[in-house]
Amino acid sequence: MTRAVLIDCDPGIDDMMALLTACASPELELRGVTTVGGNVGIERTTRNARSVLALAGRGDVPVAAGAKRSLVRAVARHDSAHGDDGLGGIELPVPDGRPDRRPAAEFLAAAVEASTEPVALFAVGPLTNVALFYATYPDIAATLDRLVVMGGSIGPGNITPAAEFNVWFDPEAAYRVLAEPDVAVPTTLVPLDVTRRTGLGEADLARLAAAGPIGGYAARALGGYRHGAGPAIPVHDAVAVLSVMHPELMTVRRATVQVETGLGPGRGATLVDLRPEAAPAEGVDATPVDVGVVPTVDVVVDADSRAVVEALLDRVTRLDRR
Ligand code: BDR
Ligand code: CA
Repeated sequence: MTRAVLIDCDPGIDDMMALLTACASPELELRGVTTVGGNVGIERTTRNARSVLALAGRGDVPVAAGAKRSLVRAVARHDSAHGDDGLGGIELPVPDGRPDRRPAAEFLAAAVEASTEPVALFAVGPLTNVALFYATYPDIAATLDRLVVMGGSIGPGNITPAAEFNVWFDPEAAYRVLAEPDVAVPTTLVPLDVTRRTGLGEADLARLAAAGPIGGYAARALGGYRHGAGPAIPVHDAVAVLSVMHPELMTVRRATVQVETGLGPGRGATLVDLRPEAAPAEGVDATPVDVGVVPTVDVVVDADSRAVVEALLDRVTRLDRR
């Protein structure tokens, strides 16, 4: 059985891996991609999403651009770990055609409303578009099958000691989606603690490169990722996509998630409350805050990292064998 999915992203090298993984997975029917400013500006993330889909032979998947900045406080310019072009300098061809004309939130609403099956949404960039979608179209958003977010951390951050990049870039949006959502949507959080441990080594890159031109682009992009997380190259966003297809490789705990929106050094931190007594009882999870309950989120707290990398390689190398 295939699962209808949408991906909101800011490519981004690991976003590229998430898109390639989705395109290579027969279990997923990719209905559309929306883009957000984050790793690089919105023009670049949109162009990159379209280029990556074209590379994967899925130039038919519509791409709609969304927010170019965060909801409340724009972040200062930052040097992207993904390079100026967002893809480690690999120079993918620019595809023909144009992005969808609708803004991302409108596109998401239309795609979810038009679907006869439940749709899952992956959010692997700052949560600005998702917050706008929830705020503008709550009745449609409420029909989402699941939201799967790559973001936040239980322990230390990456962009600051306290904050993971996607949440740091737009903490108010993350707060709106994770801590005080407009709608009750079952939500999974795939935090940095797990994704930074799930990385590709030299032999994995060689395997990708040997697969053919698509794997070659992926390997070169990953080689240009200035992630600073140790010798293995993390594929954060692809782990979120794989978490849906390989739940057996993940350990999930229910928690409430608060987001620090203050302006001090903790801005963008996520407070993941894993205390058993903190989670509301079964049946009241994902309850919108207007009844006074912080919703519970399914937090991936551990993963079989090597098996996740193997699953990724197995899938992405298929794109060159088709
Ligand atoms: C997240 O931040 C971005 O740089 C990556 O694409 C990923 O979504 C990891 O913290
Ligand atoms: Ca991303």
